[in-house]
Amino acid sequence: MKLPISVLAIFISVSSASAATPPQNEKSAPAPPSWAYPIAPPNEVVLKNDGAPHQVPGSSKSLTVPQILDSFNIPDWHPDGHPALPRVVEHGRKPGVRGCGYCHLPNGQGRPENASLAGLPAPYIEQQVRDIRSGARRSSEPRMGPPNNMIMIAEEASDDEVKSAAEYFSSLKLKPWIKVVEAATVLKTKVSGSMLVASDGGGTEPIGNRIIETPVNREQTELRDDASGFLAFVPPGSIKKGEALVTTGGAGKTTQCAICHGVDLRGLGPIPRLAGRSPSYLFRQLYDLQHGVRKGPWSDLMKAPVAHLSEEDMVSIAAYLASREP
Ligand code: HEC
Ligand code: HEC
Repeated sequence: MKLPISVLAIFISVSSASAATPPQNEKSAPAPPSWAYPIAPPNEVVLKNDGAPHQVPGSSKSLTVPQILDSFNIPDWHPDGHPALPRVVEHGRKPGVRGCGYCHLPNGQGRPENASLAGLPAPYIEQQVRDIRSGARRSSEPRMGPPNNMIMIAEEASDDEVKSAAEYFSSLKLKPWIKVVEAATVLKTKVSGSMLVASDGGGTEPIGNRIIETPVNREQTELRDDASGFLAFVPPGSIKKGEALVTTGGAGKTTQCAICHGVDLRGLGPIPRLAGRSPSYLFRQLYDLQHGVRKGPWSDLMKAPVAHLSEEDMVSIAAYLASREP
């Protein structure tokens, strides 16, 4: 039987709609850059249970792999390095609320695949969790695991729990954590634990328009040591280009960030700090804000600053901001 053209047209349009790949965002842009939104290999086991106790420098503790991976009783290698942990930060609440300090670390320094929370204003932290819970704040890469975990936690956590976590993290001071280095050539990398690490085969490649943020000491990072930070390789010249955009607005391309984020970029009132934070995280946020997937009630203020930035501009801005003393 021959189908009339009109029926055929409906069939084609329906089937192509259902075959649509990742959800389209407002600009229906191509997939976001994979260096900033790393997707972990499926069913990856980053830390194998070897049954042995592990240690990290400067800690008297000995923890086994199951203890290190327990997000309801988080590994806290350096309890003297921060004030007493509120219950929600250390234990969360089963089944859905994993302890905030598991991912953001007990001292709030964070990792490239999540965010530093140390020293962020408490009202800002609470607003972001509300936005993530309501769906107003999403990631441009729905296949990246950690932001999806954050969504589940935001949906399950009570307002009181979020408030107590916000008070705790805002009381902390962000410490120098990421060393930013300009480099034309970088090690080839692969994704492990939702972050970039040196690839098994070794070798180098041009950095291109990317930021390669990787643990200073991979083993300590895998053991979730909150005293072992990160190295971020950025393109040659990017820090200076970023500085010009951030401090002058780049002749109308963007707005001087200090107006809202504070003269030293360490935050102002409820507006978050930018200085000394993960450049991969900062890039993702600029990209998400520009692509309209982060659109909470406060996001409008960021519309003009990001509207005309290219990806290269965002790399430069993130490189500069991360290189600033926190
Ligand atoms: C399983 C890991 C994980 C846990 C546990 C977790 N988060 Fe997150 N959180 C993330 C990730 C990943 C992001 C960043 C998402 C992105 O890149 O867009 C994030 C982002 C945030 C942000 C936004 C920060 C900013 O600068 O805008 C806040 C606030 C936050 N989390 C609070 C919390 C609180 C409070 C808890 C505990 C109730 C918690 N998180 C538990 C993974 C986690
Ligand atoms: C008019 C005020 C204003 C200006 C100017 C401004 N920002 Fe923002 N920025 C904000 C607000 C408010 C937020 C919180 C947005 C939200 O809740 O989604 C924010 C959030 C951000 C975030 C996300 C931080 C996080 O923790 O997730 C980044 C990154 C950022 N701004 C970078 C910049 C840069 C870079 C510039 C300058 C080029 C700039 N901003 C200029 C008000 C401003």
